[in-house]
Amino acid sequence: MATYKLEPTPWRDRGDIVAGDPAERERDKLLVGHLAESGPRRNLWLDITGEQVVAVLGKRGSGKSYTLGAIIEGLAAGLGDSPIASLTTPRSALVLDIMDIFWTSQIALASEGPPELVKQYEIMQRAGLNPQPLDIEVWLPSGFENSDIDPPGIHLLEIRASDLEIDDWGSLFEVDIFGEPRGMLIADVITHVAVTGYIGASGAQVVPNPNFDFNDLLTCLDDDVDIGANYRPDTIRSIRQRMTTYAALPLFAGAGTRLSDLLRPFQATVLMLARVPDALKKVLVAALTRRILRERRDASLAQKRIDLDSRLDEQQRDQLRELINSKVPRTWLLMDEAHVLAGVDEPSVAREALVKYAKEGRNYGLSLALATQQPSALDPRLMSQVETAIVHQLTDPRDAGVAKNAMRSPLPSSVSVDGENSEVTALLRRLGQGVATFSCGNAPSLQRLCVAAIRPRISAHGGYEA
Ligand SMILES: Nc1ncnc2c1ncn2[C@@H]1O[C@H](COP(=O)(O)OP(=O)(O)OP(=O)(O)O)[C@@H](O)[C@H]1O
Ligand SMILES: [Mg+2]
Repeated sequence: MATYKLEPTPWRDRGDIVAGDPAERERDKLLVGHLAESGPRRNLWLDITGEQVVAVLGKRGSGKSYTLGAIIEGLAAGLGDSPIASLTTPRSALVLDIMDIFWTSQIALASEGPPELVKQYEIMQRAGLNPQPLDIEVWLPSGFENSDIDPPGIHLLEIRASDLEIDDWGSLFEVDIFGEPRGMLIADVITHVAVTGYIGASGAQVVPNPNFDFNDLLTCLDDDVDIGANYRPDTIRSIRQRMTTYAALPLFAGAGTRLSDLLRPFQATVLMLARVPDALKKVLVAALTRRILRERRDASLAQKRIDLDSRLDEQQRDQLRELINSKVPRTWLLMDEAHVLAGVDEPSVAREALVKYAKEGRNYGLSLALATQQPSALDPRLMSQVETAIVHQLTDPRDAGVAKNAMRSPLPSSVSVDGENSEVTALLRRLGQGVATFSCGNAPSLQRLCVAAIRPRISAHGGYEA
């Protein structure tokens, strides 16, 4: 590894660096790694007592997925202290795994077994770490399982058609909802089914049903007198065809998975999304992200009433507590290759939902971690929310410029790499695999960005080529 020498001293005193909370509460923290600069060895922890927006940036193969994996392990390490995390606040983590590489976090590294597993075990052992129990569940959207290759014990996710918003429908059917007849037809059908009700072919009034499913939409398409009068048969036929395909998907068949079943305290949920077609993937991510935000907004309001409203009697308090318990806990959302669903290039309902989540989520106990190899392609509204930036090697000047903008710690007054004077952009070019700069806007005692070696994983890393 290269020798990195940075000035001034990074931390207020000599011990471990625990950065990430403006009040430095250290109630919840994850081991990120250790300082990779010349000088005494110091561990680097991310203080997650408050909520976070973290960006993990770096070129291909620099160690981003691995770093994200280390964060996931920490979040799944359970209540109490362990070598990789100290956790007191119940939180869940949802990994939106668009590459299907994080399910391997369920597999503890071991000294015996397949060679790749043993190789990873040895790297972990050399760093003085050991496997420990992690609470990680793997989920798949229902209907996308493949019993020939899937790991055992996968849980199946269902969502309700009624959880989708009008833009999701546009995205799902790949139509412009307001600009073309097929889009307007979908909007009308949904409004008729969910909000206004409609007159059926027999002349009977069908009452609105806000908890509708795909079959309700199909019935409306066939029976609604207004729809029949206002749209051409070929427009109706084309939407019916696609609608029938979606109606047959097990993903939309059931009553919908409760968020509190998907997301549990001190547990990480890996949702495998690689097999899901892109249009559906975006809609799924958008719908889940919005639901988490909505549930947490309600839970947070209820909590504030309990905390502040002296007009409440004991029974009302109990009711509010019950409501909070039925909602998702504080949650971390994590996504690798974030430019795919949240890139600047094309409109994406997922991107819009993530931007809203990043902007509003912190108030409701929601954190976000995004990794990308192309920071310049990520929506700038997301980049502007980043407080903690873990930046691996970057060689492209545009990407390095965007990464530098996301560094909220003071920059070092001097940098040298292997004895050569340098500066931050050049430093980014000289970072080895698994080494990254760490900076954080919520760290009053962190006097400058520092260089860290990310700790080895204690569960299997699935991000290599196979
Ligand atoms: N902190 C680390 N400790 C030990 N090995 C690491 C570390 N970080 C990365 N590696 C090694 O580097 C390899 C590549 O890392 P990783 O898969 O995280 O890259 P990436 O940045 O996600 O690349 P890509 O853009 O191709 O997805 C890993 O398979 C692992 O062998
Ligand atoms: Mg990767």
